[in-house]
Amino acid sequence: MTRATSLPDSVRIAPAPLAGTVHVTGDKSIGHRCLLIGALAGSPVAVSGLPPSADVAATAAALRSLGVQVDLASEDDGRVGGLVTGPIASDAGGSAVGIDCGNSGTTLRLLAGLAAGAGRHVVLDGDASLRRRPVDRITAPLAAMGVRTVAREERLPPLEVLPGAVRDVVWSSPVASAQVKSAVLLAAVAGGVTATVRSPHASRDHTERMLRHGGITVTTTSDADAQEIVTVTPGRFSVDALHAPRDPSAAAFWHVAAACGSGTVLTPGLVLNPGRTGALDVLRAMGADVAIDGERTVGGEPIGDVRVSPGRLTGAEVSGELVVRCLDELPILAVAGALSDDGLVVSDAAELRVKESDRISVLTATLGELGILVEEAPDGFRVPGGQRPGPGHVDAQGDHRIAMTAAVAASLGSGSVTIGGFGTVGSSYPQFLADLESLGGRWEVTDG
Ligand code: S3P
Repeated sequence: MTRATSLPDSVRIAPAPLAGTVHVTGDKSIGHRCLLIGALAGSPVAVSGLPPSADVAATAAALRSLGVQVDLASEDDGRVGGLVTGPIASDAGGSAVGIDCGNSGTTLRLLAGLAAGAGRHVVLDGDASLRRRPVDRITAPLAAMGVRTVAREERLPPLEVLPGAVRDVVWSSPVASAQVKSAVLLAAVAGGVTATVRSPHASRDHTERMLRHGGITVTTTSDADAQEIVTVTPGRFSVDALHAPRDPSAAAFWHVAAACGSGTVLTPGLVLNPGRTGALDVLRAMGADVAIDGERTVGGEPIGDVRVSPGRLTGAEVSGELVVRCLDELPILAVAGALSDDGLVVSDAAELRVKESDRISVLTATLGELGILVEEAPDGFRVPGGQRPGPGHVDAQGDHRIAMTAAVAASLGSGSVTIGGFGTVGSSYPQFLADLESLGGRWEVTDG
């Protein structure tokens, strides 16, 4: 079973303190990679701990349509595991395979690289949100590798990847994006060539760690012009098992609730990859009490048990390399900013505008509906402190992280909040409402 648990389309969340222990869902970024990279092995790979999310299900379905056997079932705690048997079948010379990536940018970008490296002819498409997210950031390096692509208006999905051979590449990416880096690395490994990706900052390195875990040589350095230079050389990927530990970006919702005074929240077994721990650093800098125990390594990834307790929150500024380390958590950190003494200032974060929604303008509108002033900037936002969310009615606008941000704002606020389009939460965290309830949260289904 890989289908996302169904969520109500409209919910009303009432204020309630959140505290306790929560085992959040499996990591979405690593879950995608367990399937995509697992498919590079020439023998069956056991995968476990994946989130039962619509985005990861889209990756599983996409691989099946390229001849990879993906057998998944629910594990005891609701996460997903099973067997992936690659490789991607070689092109039989037929017509292009159409692939629906749904809401998932990671599926589209990483699969474009993998399909290109495997010489497959695919057309990658998705929902209305995905159709407005740029793909030129991956078609440019793929072109440098000799891959021909066709995109709508040269930069938007649907994206057609034409079959052919890939060649060695050295690519300087203008954005620090793990998705761009991973697309190039996967194209290189699948196509048996050497690739180097230079980026302005380091980004999450799950792909590099997983490839190394399976015996591929991947080096990471930096120089005066690039904070991260990653090179992969040809090799055989071989592994028996891949695991997705629990998702720190899902846990961030509970961490912010705890930091803002709800109570102590313990989240065991979280991914602590340095590319993912920026939100904990921000909360700590603001004055929250953040403790990490039981640090260990699983499949090359550092993990640990994270406990966050309330503190007197001052303000914080987020810019530069820290932005990349907490990009997905910036919407929920805005709520911490509002409830702090001095607020939150975010800059260098124009990437937020090309996520599942334009997260700068949608966040401003959403929190605005709850009476929180957010000042929008081209590359970020400023939330003054000393603001408590009030009651209101918001729409998720096809963005799971906006929906969950509104839900936590409501729990910390002064009145009930109705959230429309809540089903989008299934793309990353289908158990969100169950976990909210287990921490003491109060919610009910509404008609909108
Ligand atoms: C992801 C990388 C990030 C992140 C996204 C998942 C990944 O995107 O925002 O949610 O799994 O590689 P970018 O790499 O485009 O910044």
